[in-house]
Amino acid sequence: MVVDNFSNSKPAALRRVKQICGKDFVFYENDVRDREAMKKIFAENRIDAVIHFAGLKAVGESVRKPLLYYSHNLCATFNLCEAMIEAGVRIMVFSSSATVYGNSDRVPIREDFRIGPTSNPYGETKLMQERILSDMVAAGELRTAVMLRYFNPIGAHESGLIGEDPNGIPNNLLPYISQVSIGKLPYLSVFGNDYDTHDGTGVRDYIHVVDLARAHVCALRHAVGSEGAQYYNIGTGIGYSVLDIIGAYEKATGRKVPYRISPRRPGDVAVSYSDPSLAASVLGWKAQFGIERMCRDADRWQTMNPDGYPDE
Ligand code: UFG
Repeated sequence: MVVDNFSNSKPAALRRVKQICGKDFVFYENDVRDREAMKKIFAENRIDAVIHFAGLKAVGESVRKPLLYYSHNLCATFNLCEAMIEAGVRIMVFSSSATVYGNSDRVPIREDFRIGPTSNPYGETKLMQERILSDMVAAGELRTAVMLRYFNPIGAHESGLIGEDPNGIPNNLLPYISQVSIGKLPYLSVFGNDYDTHDGTGVRDYIHVVDLARAHVCALRHAVGSEGAQYYNIGTGIGYSVLDIIGAYEKATGRKVPYRISPRRPGDVAVSYSDPSLAASVLGWKAQFGIERMCRDADRWQTMNPDGYPDE
């Protein structure tokens, strides 16, 4: 059963998910912040566990509109948790982010590293939601809360049917490169080449979205048979610079990605990559796809859907 308000998605995406899985599922077009709708959904269905993805996610926008981010992301979690408690549903897998670590001074980042201070309101909402869920577990309101701290999800499903469809000009590196690569945008701005990294550009831990999806399946299986608030890094453990990614994309597609060096983007950290070994040992999950595959799948999606999902 799926709930979405299509604030950053389209019905075509759901239809294509059904096509890929060969399965039908119940769908509600609702906002998770709608209390009455949530109550009704929990009353009408037998729900064993919830995977909570709902929330706004653009870092820059959150700096410009903090109230919007605190209000949307926290109200969604309040409402959802209230509905869960009322219905006796006590297992949650939560879509968290590496952003909770803020500017970590050590890599690879392990789950027991200090969290916060975060560098923007979006990150703060993720950290607050983790705290809310862990307090609920401590109080017995939830039995299990599994927080998956995503590093940098990229790529698309190998069918080319589902992928990233950003609103307007992309903020994130990969959708930007994909649009430059097919000529929709003229060139990529590389934000800074004077960081303390192997080539001066920012280093991140990119993870294929299909590996990320599989992590949720493993987390859910584990959550059903375990208790407590748990935290797992979801990354490959490998750091690639912006120039590495440009090179990998060019290699995967055979097309040049024109770029220019620009000033640093405020709030960016030099290096962020995970130690993903806890997820491997406890959840039995490990990333399978490397950077070439991520770029190939991103390009397939972009060339098959140059204007994103159709309106239907
Ligand atoms: N970059 C560019 N040019 C661009 C876009 C990005 O050079 O046009 C660089 C950035 O400076 C950074 C790297 O590419 O070095 C990755 O940037 P993204 O915007 O793709 O991703 P971030 O690492 O900034 O942010 C991501 C998610 C956030 C999450 C964060 C956690 O988008 O939701 O990781 O660390 F909070």
